[in-house]
Amino acid sequence: MSDRTISPQGRPEEVVVDAALRPQRLNEMLGQDRLRENLAILIQAARARGEPLDHVLFYGPPGLGKTSLAWVLSHEMGVGMKVSAGPAIERAGDLAAILTNLRQGDILFIDEVHRLGRAVEEVLYPAMEDFALDIVVGKGPSARNIRLKLPRFTLIGATTRLALMTAPLRARFGAVYRFDFYDLPAMEGIVHRAAGLLQVQATPEGIHEIARRGRGTPRVALRLLRRARDFAQVRTEGVITADSATEALALLDIDDLGLDALDRAVLGRIIRDFRGGPVGLETIAAALSEEPDTIMDVVEPYLLQLGFLERTPRGRVATRKAYEHLGEAYPESGEQPGLFGQEGN
Ligand SMILES: Nc1ncnc2c1ncn2[C@@H]1O[C@H](COP(=O)(O)OP(=O)(O)O)[C@@H](O)[C@H]1O
Ligand SMILES: [Mg+2]
Repeated sequence: MSDRTISPQGRPEEVVVDAALRPQRLNEMLGQDRLRENLAILIQAARARGEPLDHVLFYGPPGLGKTSLAWVLSHEMGVGMKVSAGPAIERAGDLAAILTNLRQGDILFIDEVHRLGRAVEEVLYPAMEDFALDIVVGKGPSARNIRLKLPRFTLIGATTRLALMTAPLRARFGAVYRFDFYDLPAMEGIVHRAAGLLQVQATPEGIHEIARRGRGTPRVALRLLRRARDFAQVRTEGVITADSATEALALLDIDDLGLDALDRAVLGRIIRDFRGGPVGLETIAAALSEEPDTIMDVVEPYLLQLGFLERTPRGRVATRKAYEHLGEAYPESGEQPGLFGQEGN
């Protein structure tokens, strides 16, 4: 079973560094103020009653702190946490094994919870509601149901795709929280804290340059920080300044707004090949030989946030701002908008 209990995803370097940088306590987390306030209340109330936390669902784009916050909750509640993920729990028996190994009050964290299979979900419903496991013993006419009692546990689910979750599963979470992109002051605080923990010297201007190109996403900003550190080490005596950060990021093809080559390729395709859209997600993905999921989870949320992209019923449309950012002439009225491909989800 242990091989089904996965560690947080990421490249090896990131997994190690991520663990070191993960906030342990709620007050070490910066940003997401409303979310933190809500959780502080949830924690305090549960502790005062001496009960485990209600089941909690986190959703939002990758890299915003869903996994980290699950760990924070386990530290704040002083309970253990088991980590797994939707695709790793293949059969109902896998989930049963995980559930029967939990101790009273433990947290079970299931990442990508929208990817649980039907049969697995059905085991989860009574587990979440009644802390019970229904199993069938024997086969044929002699088969009978027995109900095992489970310890009271807290399920924390995380997903980048709330829309793909089944309604019955979603309804069984007592609290549902959305993660938003971080604002600049929070991003600066996060980069500053990480620079301190990694013992990297950086000027406030250097931190600012990294933070503002981090797409409002701590994971991205921390990755940029590591690259800027490498650059500074090799080229400028180890101190990250505005200049060295700017140079390092330009070398990585990260532009002024933090968009990378793939972000710009998506916009560029829509504008140049599909006259600005509307064009279906599948069509864009095929044109770029990319996975639609990557574009939907990683690329689009930030482009939507910047107001560079719109989702219409007929497909994705590049906005005037996107044209301007790429230095393309915006088609003036009178020109026919294009209509290409089929709209994805
Ligand atoms: N609010 C925050 N403050 C400090 N660091 C954060 C914060 N949110 C995320 N991080 C850092 O960003 C990285 C990615 O966070 P993670 O929890 O793995 O995101 P998600 O699970 O949403 O994809 C981790 O290294 C984590 O330490
Ligand atoms: Mg995660």
